[in-house]
Amino acid sequence: MKKITIAIDGFSSTGKSTVAKQLAKALGYVYVDSGAMYRAVTLYAMQNGIISNDHFDVEKLIADLDRLKINFKYNNAIGFAEIYLNGVNVEHDIRTLEVSQWVSQVAEISEVRRMLVFQQQQMGKEKGVVMDGRDIGTVVFPEAELKFFMTASAETRAKRRFKELLERNENVSYEEVLKNVESRDLIDSTREDSPLKKAKDAIEIDNSSLSLEAQFEKLYAFAREVIEKK
Ligand code: CDP
Repeated sequence: MKKITIAIDGFSSTGKSTVAKQLAKALGYVYVDSGAMYRAVTLYAMQNGIISNDHFDVEKLIADLDRLKINFKYNNAIGFAEIYLNGVNVEHDIRTLEVSQWVSQVAEISEVRRMLVFQQQQMGKEKGVVMDGRDIGTVVFPEAELKFFMTASAETRAKRRFKELLERNENVSYEEVLKNVESRDLIDSTREDSPLKKAKDAIEIDNSSLSLEAQFEKLYAFAREVIEKK
């Protein structure tokens, strides 16, 4: 059976990665978390004094981009690939609220986007990939056979993210998380380069009141339909 490309875009904490992983597993496809790549660049900037307190040296980050090696390695134990920054597994470190507070400013930089989009296109060139992010259906794979656009209310999303951060023992308040979700949505959807927007041919899914199972069944049914027609 022919393989397709599945693009999943949407606002922060809409559960894109959960359903993308489920789909990849069910179809035997590769899952790529494009947001993890923007987070890894942000972590690099934080570790190297490029971002500190309220200061962000954009020129220095651009100058350093060719020193950054980002790649994914499959982890058998968990059944998914984990992200590495210059040879170090940073899967855990990229998911802090601190990284979330800077990542959208890093993702606005065209030089950063150009580098990461190129890598994403390389990873997906054989198809058989489920990739989630903000510009996958619009910029990275405009020809993807199946595109989803996920939405949910800001409060629902902040609650989900707050719970995740608490489970990781992060010392954060619900208000901080909600503020971050809202501010990233605003930056992501109003930036000049590749703003977050629904691709014309994307299927919109509001999952505010969908269980994880119901959501998966819904997307999986669309995927089967498209794949069977191939
Ligand atoms: O927190 P959440 O899982 O929703 O976000 P993420 O997928 O980890 O992405 C983190 C940030 O990276 C987003 O808020 C965007 O600023 C940026 N991003 C992007 O610009 N383009 C992508 N394809 C993916 C993420």
